[in-house]
This record gives sequence, structure tokens and C-alpha cells, in this order.
Amino acid sequence: MAEHGFDPGPANGVLGPETAAAAAAFETAYDTTEVQPPAAITAENAPDWCRLLRSAPRPALRDLAAARGIYIGTAVDAAPFEGDAGYRTAIAREFNVVVASLVFKFSELHPSRSEYSFEASDALVAFAEANGMAVRGHVLVWHNRIPGWLLDLRPSRDEAIELLREHIMTVVGRYRGRIRSWDVVNEAIDNQTYELRQDSFWYQAIGPDYMRLAFEFAHEADPDAVLYYNDYGAEGLGRKSNAVYELVGDLVATGVPVGGVGWQMHVRNGFHVTPDHVQNGERLNALGLEVSITELDVADPHPTTEADLASQAVAYWEVVSLCLRLPSCPAVVMWGFTDAYSWIPSFLPGFGNATIFDGSMTPKPAYYAVLRALRTPA
Ligand code: XIL
Repeated sequence: MAEHGFDPGPANGVLGPETAAAAAAFETAYDTTEVQPPAAITAENAPDWCRLLRSAPRPALRDLAAARGIYIGTAVDAAPFEGDAGYRTAIAREFNVVVASLVFKFSELHPSRSEYSFEASDALVAFAEANGMAVRGHVLVWHNRIPGWLLDLRPSRDEAIELLREHIMTVVGRYRGRIRSWDVVNEAIDNQTYELRQDSFWYQAIGPDYMRLAFEFAHEADPDAVLYYNDYGAEGLGRKSNAVYELVGDLVATGVPVGGVGWQMHVRNGFHVTPDHVQNGERLNALGLEVSITELDVADPHPTTEADLASQAVAYWEVVSLCLRLPSCPAVVMWGFTDAYSWIPSFLPGFGNATIFDGSMTPKPAYYAVLRALRTPA
């Protein structure tokens, strides 16, 4: 096994014979449709476009992604992972990286002071390895999912640092060499002040230093893992992305082992990539950092029409194309791949249908748009 799991390989565009045949058949079917994304999709022509694509053959996303040298992935939900064999089969077919939507979070892995619970996380890592996939670890430091026992402890600063160190050494150390990248710190920027958020347990217990310490502990536990700062709403140019840029720029300048910035990209239908996204990605890359898309989904307000599905396809197409265009964007990871289990309906009432497969595991236009983006020459 290569270090940190499956390596997507060089971006030379070379496909194995079976995938090449499927890709060629897909492209023929796609190219004979009258509509090409992204420019010309309208409410009038979308239904025909979608119908034609649905009968197209489909090579696996992961094969096309590997030929471009990137990872394509999904978050995995524990309940269907355990109970729905079709869910597992689809993940193994389509993706070459997985991340847990819940089971790597602090409260799940560390339910009491002296107890860790690795059953579900071990099962996901074993599944990934059995299927030649890489793993993203999510997440070590976040203001959510702090267990009650930790809050109740009211630790002193030194105790909190020791608890943070123990948690990170135990968790990252357990999977040393098997997890390609870790979200070390998640969502640390406050949306009002654009400073570090102060309503976080770790900020309150340790102060702003928690950030540096978390990266240093993670690096000590697995020196080869790529360590990420992950956030939302900081993808284009603006106050929040400037705050993230400054934050990671300071970490880089002071020798803190940060290696990447994650863009969550929980966007709404109608979203478009703009030159700002490219500029922001390029300035982060210029710091020597990777940029990965870490939690992509495209939420649609009810009811969803054929035209909405087409516009959603455009959003997915643009985001994958953006990643391929940046100097260093190794991964596009979706926050779930089927509407059967997406978190969007519970998080955003009135919205849904945010992923690339519908609730009965049929590929949506967005799926074909991702395929197409992976096949479009850079
Ligand atoms: C979400 C999960 O999908 C839900 O199942 C859970 O109830 C709450 O967390 N940003 C993140 C993710 O970094 O950890 C969140 O995941 C979605 C927003």
C-alpha cells in the first residue's frame, strides 16, 4: 500500500482500456445531445438534455479522476454504510477518497475522558483500503461536537493543551500513514468579526495558540499527512477569504505545518464559479498550500424541476472544472452523493436534492456534468 493510501497518479489523462471504452461511448452520447454545459442550458432545452444523458453509458468517476491526477470523493454516513449494501457498492465504484460525515468528530471518537471509540472509524478506513481509496480525516478541532464531559471538566489552560495533545496523538497516531489529509481545524473564523471565533471551547480554554498547537501535534503524530484548515464561505474574494488567507499565511510564515486549505462549498442552486475563485485559489497555492473542495453539495429549494437539475449540473461542472484548473487542487469531495441520505433537508428546511444521485441511486444530470468536467481537457 502506498503511503497514505491510493495515489491518484499523474495527470496524464491515460485511461485503462475498459474505462477508455466507456468514456468514449459516454462522450459520443453526450456530444450528440444538442446542449453543452454550461452556457446553453435553459428551462426549455433542459428536459431533452437530461433525458438523453440518462441513457448514456457511464465510466466510473474515480477512473476519470485518477487519469487527471485528482481524487474524487464523498462523505460517508455511518447508518447506510452499515445497513445499505447498495450504498457501499456505489461508493466503491465511483470514488477514490472518502471522509466520514460524523464518526471522526471529537464527541464520537472520544465519548468520555478515558474512553475512545474507534469501531466506526476503523471500519471506514478498512473499507477504503480494501477498495484502493484514500481517506480524509475530519475533524480534530471544531467548536461543535465537543462532548459534555470536556465542557464539564472546565480545564485549566495547561490541562486543555494536554487534552488536545492526547486526543490528537491518539487519533492521528492510530491512523498514521493511512490518512492522506486531516482537517486539523474547522470553521475557526467568526462570521461577524472575521477574527478567530471566541465562542469556541478551544479558544476559551487555550487562547489563539490552540491553532498552532493543533497543527504541531498532528504533525508530530503523522509527519506525512497533509494538514488542512477547512472553512465555508471563504472561496471567492471577500472579507472571510481574506481572513482565511491571512490566518494560513501567518501559520506558513511562522513555520506551522499547515499544508492545505479546504473549501467546503455547501452552495445553493444557481451558484457559479467566478474569476474570484480562481484568484483566491491561486493566492493560496502561491503560499505553498493545496486547496481542496471538501464538502461540495448544491442545495435546491423545493420543488425541483428539470431546469433546476440542469442548473445544478452546471454548478457541479463548474466546481470540478475550477479544481482542475487550479495549480494545486488534489481533491473534490462531495458531502454525500445520494439524495437518499443528504444532510441538506434537515439542515436547510425547504431545500433538498443537493447531490449527484437521486434518492433511488439513479445518476442525476449533475453526475454526468462531473463526468464531463473530468473528461474536458484542461
Ligand atoms: C454535518 C453532518 O453532515 C451532519 O450529519 C451533522 O449532524 C452535523 O455536521 N461543515 C462541516 C461538517 O465541517 O462537519 C458538517 O457535517 C457540515 C458543515
